[in-house]
Amino acid sequence: MSIEGEIARDEAHELHRALGPWQLIALGIGAIIGAGIFVITGHAAASYAGPGVVISFIIAGLCCLFTGLCYAEYASMIPVAGSAYTYTYATLGKFVAWIIGWNLVLEYLGAASTVAVGWSGYFVQLLAGMGIVIPQALSTAPIAMTGFGEIAATGSFLNLPAMAVILLVTTLLVVGIKASAHFNSVMVVIKLFIVALVIAFGLPLIMGENLEPFIPPNTGTWGEFGWSGVFRATGVIFFAYIGFDAVSVAAQEARNPHRDIPIGILGSLIICTILYILMSLTMTGLAPYTSLNVAYPVFVAIENAGPQLAWLGITVNVGAVVGLASVVLVLLLGQSRVFYAMSRDGLIPPIYSQIHPTFRTPWLGTMVTGAIAAIMAGILPLSILGELVSIGTLAAFTIVCAGILVLRVKAPNIKRPFRTPFVWVVAPLSIFMCVFMMAFLPIDTWLRLLVWTGIGLAIYALYGARNAKPPMFNLMRDSAK
Ligand code: ALA
Repeated sequence: MSIEGEIARDEAHELHRALGPWQLIALGIGAIIGAGIFVITGHAAASYAGPGVVISFIIAGLCCLFTGLCYAEYASMIPVAGSAYTYTYATLGKFVAWIIGWNLVLEYLGAASTVAVGWSGYFVQLLAGMGIVIPQALSTAPIAMTGFGEIAATGSFLNLPAMAVILLVTTLLVVGIKASAHFNSVMVVIKLFIVALVIAFGLPLIMGENLEPFIPPNTGTWGEFGWSGVFRATGVIFFAYIGFDAVSVAAQEARNPHRDIPIGILGSLIICTILYILMSLTMTGLAPYTSLNVAYPVFVAIENAGPQLAWLGITVNVGAVVGLASVVLVLLLGQSRVFYAMSRDGLIPPIYSQIHPTFRTPWLGTMVTGAIAAIMAGILPLSILGELVSIGTLAAFTIVCAGILVLRVKAPNIKRPFRTPFVWVVAPLSIFMCVFMMAFLPIDTWLRLLVWTGIGLAIYALYGARNAKPPMFNLMRDSAK
């Protein structure tokens, strides 16, 4: 049976095919532009790279474009929900697929919680500007990282705004893919408009002295300025690109997935890469990089430009609140679709693939996912989540790019509506760059990844390995026919 036939066979689990190319590009941009550019860029410039963070954005952008090309080939071959997880199940088998699915939980669920925490910061600041004060005890995490593996109580109760945005977004996701996509498109237009305003009005005002030296000399410590700092910053701002693969997660809800998923992935990545390069140049050109280590660096950069840009300040905060909410939306959409695919394959319990008869969404799984994300966002600080998300995502990308090469050798005859150009250059380069960025992340992030993998293996042994069904698609077998 063809892949399309097998999808149709599974009527009871069928999702609603509602998305066209523009909505898919919007989905990508919805997931990409968020806390990375609005929050993390300032820290990366101030602590590691100075204005050289612009180079970090170029390197990370190239890596994601190469990976995006591999994703596009996979997505055109297997246009079903589940993204990298499904591709791996169809090619490398259930064990590797589980590992990748487990890492995608870090990418989607972990990043959604991280961004919700960032959202809370901007939201509280925006309300404060209107004279409404939310007490710190109700808007920050009750625990904080105080050192290597050390956790301390902060005296706070819960980060309630972070939990609230996740619960709101979850309700929207349960109600339907169409409503979610429309809402996302509106938010994307607003945030693109505001990013464009910052670039259009900020770039002409940048001051040459802020950009010199472009790569500040290394302090004597590895990773603090100089080229090693630029590379460390690359691993840190990589977070800003996370989410483009969420487009492929929605393949089963696309009207013409063979053509439109590659357009969605590559289109959104190209647009965001250009915007990030210009935006980071604007930020570091408007203010000395040393002043950007704050929770709202774009605002600081604009303030530094003087009275000419004063009108933009509040607009930027609105842009961040709207922009970060759309990231939470698309990442939680991604997570519920990955769980949906894993559940259909028997690796996790069946409630994750139950489709609501009216809404045509995996509603129960979406609600459980939202509840877990809300609890994480309510109690964990940004510092615990952010780099773990990056390392998990980089691990998943590495396996995706390796998988595409394995498939070219083992299943050369399969129909590939989109072929990665120069695959033997693009995929190995992408693998090299992903591993390179992982290598620059701190050792405790690696340790947390090991603990996370250990927990995943235990769940696999106790549940997944016993309940897994044969893969719905077996590309190796199909190619051999
Ligand atoms: N790329 C997303 C962000 O920067 C996760 O918020």
